[in-house]
This record gives sequence, structure tokens and C-alpha cells, in this order.
Amino acid sequence: SAGGSWRRPACGCGVVVSALPTVVQAGHQELPARTNGSVPTTPALARDALHTKMEQLEEQLLSKILTLQKERQAANTDRSQQQHDIEKELNSLQNRVTELEHGESCYSPPDAFKVIIPVQNNYMYARMKKSLPELYAFTICMWLKSKALAGLGTPFSYSVPSQANEIVLLEWGTNPLELLINDKVAQLPLSLKDKAWHHVCVAWTTRDGKWSAYQDGEQRGAGENLASWHAIKPQGVIILGQEQDTLGGRFDATQAFVGELAQFSVWDHMLAPAEILGLANCTSHLQGNVIQWDDQAVEVFGGASKGGFAACEEGRKA
Ligand SMILES: *[C@@H]1O[C@H](CO)[C@@H](O)[C@H](O)[C@H]1NC(C)=O
Ligand SMILES: *[C@@H]1O[C@H](CO)[C@@H](O)[C@H](O)[C@H]1NC(C)=O
Repeated sequence: SAGGSWRRPACGCGVVVSALPTVVQAGHQELPARTNGSVPTTPALARDALHTKMEQLEEQLLSKILTLQKERQAANTDRSQQQHDIEKELNSLQNRVTELEHGESCYSPPDAFKVIIPVQNNYMYARMKKSLPELYAFTICMWLKSKALAGLGTPFSYSVPSQANEIVLLEWGTNPLELLINDKVAQLPLSLKDKAWHHVCVAWTTRDGKWSAYQDGEQRGAGENLASWHAIKPQGVIILGQEQDTLGGRFDATQAFVGELAQFSVWDHMLAPAEILGLANCTSHLQGNVIQWDDQAVEVFGGASKGGFAACEEGRKA
């Protein structure tokens, strides 16, 4: 749309436009009068020369304006191409998010993953989206591989509003590995610090506070009077990798787990020793009836990440 009918450019070119009265129709503006009665009349020849000169200048100006306008149009095309690309990118990200929200797992099967906590600190962890119901007994199992130099830290902790230490598995400083229930303590004779994968289960019942602890399918310890007749309180927060000093927070780097975790599962009863052996030796695929290990059910924070993990391929080598 160059030629004589182009529109007045939107930004700041009005002065130039009105300086080109003979070539350009500047919108609906009236052309300014070129003569002023009070200016002395110039001889005809000089006036013609001046007129020619002005026409040349006007032509140069017009051609400059047309060039500028073409450049601007080209820039606009670039910009709209860029915008198109960005929108395409955003769309595909949006689709990915929707896909994830609607249950498409990144892992197949959806439990074939692990949580990786690469360094010991107070901000890397995973959180289970589900909480626990009120429980009178439980079995909690997981695969873990510790990278810790000293204590194992906290593979998991369950806090409720009135009790930060409702259920905690913790090895801190030079203390042995401990199972805390309602802040009562049992010491577990497990040895998990060889930097290899291990299958770990703790089982408990409120009846006389009986508990047992398993490593790689074998019972290593058992006892009673651990929080006898207590009921595990519901509606708390399950954190993997950090000890909670308050519901869902106040982590302590010296109590943090460092390494890898997988297949965190919870049952509402004590599993039989043979069931636990089956899980550890990979002949059973029993899922927790309270908490199942599922990509969709685990969120990672602070630089903790997820990676593919086939428990019974990597775990069996342990
Ligand atoms: C002509 O010039 C006089 C003064 O020189 C000025 O006051 C007047 O506004 C001018 N007229 C036009 C039409 O430019
Ligand atoms: C694995 O566990 C099952 C179920 O308890 C048991 O019958 C089987 O003997 C175990 N196999 C090995 C190789 O330990």
C-alpha cells in the first residue's frame, strides 16, 4: 500500500508528512498555504529553481519514508513470527501439564521411579500427596540407598498438627537407627550404610506396642511397648528425606537423608514375614493398601528429583 495513499504513520512522523504537501495527501488535513502575502515576491526564474529544488527534496524525503515504512513492516513480520513460535512453545507446555494432571505418568509402570536427593541439606525432599487415616497398626516399606557418611538421616517422617514425631524413621549423629511413634523410641538393629540398595520394612501394632523391623526381607529386630494403645493420628504430612520439627517444615540439614528412595508403601496392618520376604526378593508385587508408590502421588521439592527405577532389577543386585 505504498504509492500516494499510505496512512499517516502512527508514531511521530506527522511533521514530515505535512512537509510533503504536493506528493502526499496527509489524511484529511488541508495543505498549508505556501505563500504569505507579507513575504516579498521573488523573481519568476529564481522561484522556479527554488520550486524544483523543493520538489527534489520532497522526493528524497518520500523515498526515505517509504524505505523506513518497508523496514518497519519487515520488523513486524519478524516479530509476529517470533510471537507465533513462542505461542506454539507455550501450547505444547500447556498440553504437557494437562497430560500430567490427567494421569499420564512419566514412568511405565507408574511405580518404576525413585526419588534422588543428591546432597544433604534442609530443603530437598519429596512429599506424598496422600495422608494417613487413623491407624491402629501399620507396615511401612521402602527401598533405599544411602550416600551418607555418618548417620542415615531421615528416610521418612509423618507429622500431624499436634505431634511432629507421629511416625519417624531416623538415624542421627552417632545414635542408632530409631523408629519413633508419638515421640516414643525403639532402636532398630539394621545396617544400611554400605551405599547399596536395601529393602526396609517397619511394622507396628497398637496392641502392646509390638513392633518389628526387616532388612532385605529378614527380620532383624522386634520388641514391644512402643507407644502401646496409641492411635496413629490422621491428616498429617508424609515427607521423604527430611525430619519435620513442625507440620510439613522446620527441617534440619543434620537429620536429612541423602541418597535414593523408592517404593514407599504403607499398609494398615502388620504384614506377615513371608509377605515382606516376597516384596524384598521381588516375587511379590503387593501394593500398600493405604499408600501406594505412584509417580502422580509424589511431589519433589528443592532440587530433589525423580529418575527411572526398576526395584527388582537394581535391588536384586544389592
Ligand atoms: C504571514 O506572516 C505574518 C508575519 O510575517 C504572520 O503574522 C502571518 O500569520 C503569516 N500568515 C500565514 C498565512 O502564514
Ligand atoms: C522369595 O519370597 C517368597 C515368598 O515369601 C519365598 O517363598 C521364596 O522362597 C523367596 N525366594 C528366595 C529366592 O528367597
